Amino acid sequence: MIKTFSSRAGRLSDTNKKFLQLQSDSILKLGEKPKTTQKIVMDIGFGDAQSFICDVTDNPDYTFIGIEPYKKGFARAVQFYEENLPSNMYLFNGDAREFFQEIEYKTDYVRIHFPDPWPKKRHSKRRLITKNFLKTLHGILQNSGSVEIITDSSIYQKHIEELLAQEINFIQIENFPITHKASTFHKKAIKKDHTIKKYILEKVNQSIDP
Ligand SMILES: C[S@@+](CC[C@H](N)C(=O)[O-])C[C@H]1O[C@@H](n2cnc3c(N)ncnc32)[C@H](O)[C@@H]1O
Repeated sequence: MIKTFSSRAGRLSDTNKKFLQLQSDSILKLGEKPKTTQKIVMDIGFGDAQSFICDVTDNPDYTFIGIEPYKKGFARAVQFYEENLPSNMYLFNGDAREFFQEIEYKTDYVRIHFPDPWPKKRHSKRRLITKNFLKTLHGILQNSGSVEIITDSSIYQKHIEELLAQEINFIQIENFPITHKASTFHKKAIKKDHTIKKYILEKVNQSIDP
């Protein structure tokens, strides 16, 4: 169970509830493969869905799987799907780690934009990005697949850089092919004048478990 859920539950409007109850064609079961021949992008934690739906629209050559436990944001994404029927958008309402445990196919890209930083030391174990999680990502990515992580938390940046210093299953590269609009948390970070860092990690083919 992810700790953030309850704190972010927010009040669900009647419209949110309506779209949460809908059997939308966009919704994947745990680990289900989308019907696509396009490259797949897993978006972990798309939050309120505002930038996510723009990115889906702006990148029609990629199929997105948006994974988000936060119900209000998930409901908004379902609503966008039902009102626009994009052919490149799929959704899962839950924990990305559970979804990844069940998938029997590979993904081309993973995006993690502004993951919850859990800055307090006693909460650091709740951070999504860990050595083990990088290993999971390595397992679900195609050869030369890549991960884009963006964060404005200096504590999370330090944490990621420490992990990457020991990481041999990924190399850092410059380019990620999917464009993105500034998300809600990205805009907040700009307003606060935080230093925003982007890490793009490319899978090194052979999994090495030191
Ligand atoms: C700080 S918000 C960022 C939201 C959005 N990406 C943005 O940039 O505005 C982090 C999001 O990650 C989601 N999240 C946390 N743990 C997750 C997990 N294990 N799997 C999927 N999403 C998760 C939270 O529910 C939250 O919506």
